[in-house]
Amino acid sequence: MKGQLQRRGKKGSKKRKAKKPISNLTAANADLHDLYQRAVQDPDFEIEFLNRAYREIRNKEPRHLREDFCGTAFTTSRWVTQGDDYTAEGFDLDQSTLDWGREQNVQPLGAQAERVNLVRGDVRDPAVIPADIRSAQNFSYQVFHTRTELLEYFRAVYAGLADDGIFVMDMYGGSEAVEPLEEERWIDDEFIYVWDQDEHWPGTGEHKCYIHFRFEDGSEILRAFQYDWRLWSMPEAKELLAEAGFKRVISYFEEFDDEGDGSGEYKVNERGFPCESWLAYIVAAK
Ligand SMILES: C[S@@+](CC[C@H](N)C(=O)[O-])C[C@H]1O[C@@H](n2cnc3c(N)ncnc32)[C@H](O)[C@@H]1O
Repeated sequence: MKGQLQRRGKKGSKKRKAKKPISNLTAANADLHDLYQRAVQDPDFEIEFLNRAYREIRNKEPRHLREDFCGTAFTTSRWVTQGDDYTAEGFDLDQSTLDWGREQNVQPLGAQAERVNLVRGDVRDPAVIPADIRSAQNFSYQVFHTRTELLEYFRAVYAGLADDGIFVMDMYGGSEAVEPLEEERWIDDEFIYVWDQDEHWPGTGEHKCYIHFRFEDGSEILRAFQYDWRLWSMPEAKELLAEAGFKRVISYFEEFDDEGDGSGEYKVNERGFPCESWLAYIVAAK
């Protein structure tokens, strides 16, 4: 999993050394959606986790995915390549992002593209097909600032699932999550991705973040993406999912390696880790 954040345990260090790359990529010739996908998305990893969670809970294979906040539909598109009976829907509000995804991710699938349906709409809109799995990744549900809005979304998710459907969302937290910080990492030795946690207000949970990109020639794209979020805590989300009707709500926390960094391995863990920075999935079963 790439994700917007690096995971660190107690032993982690803030800055990572990167080798110096040689690249012709600059702020002038870069494509924002391509930079975003390469920096923070890993559809194969996401799909592996979605399949695993469904299998563990339902003891069979899922077929239909609805990806909320799908953006460029990177994961939605990859989902249908698993087999001829796999279908997917992606919901997003932004037409230009969906258009980019249709051209760059869906159309190249050829005949398989017929099994992808991109919908310009709110994630609270009803489903076209009841989903085996509904997914909300990269923390996008944090656009909902109030309990009423998040509960309304979770109720819509519940209603749009097949009878044996599951919902999978990711979450981050830890002491660093509420601190202003900038975190950099080189991507493919070509450009630097910057996660800028700019503001956090403890009284309201308001959480304002940006993604910037920097290039070897010194050029940069500041505030390429901006997020006006509320940082939700895991107990709040778990309680709201139960209130929306989900029978089982399970958290899977990422484990740490010997260096104190995220290992990429997620295990069922109800209480999580008291550390600087953690990542987790919440899986809610109807
Ligand atoms: C951070 S991107 C997520 C892209 C991708 N899912 C990922 O994992 O990286 C958030 C997307 O959510 C969309 N969005 C925000 N609010 C929405 C809403 N209420 N309904 C549908 N899409 C929404 C935005 O247009 C944007 O494309």
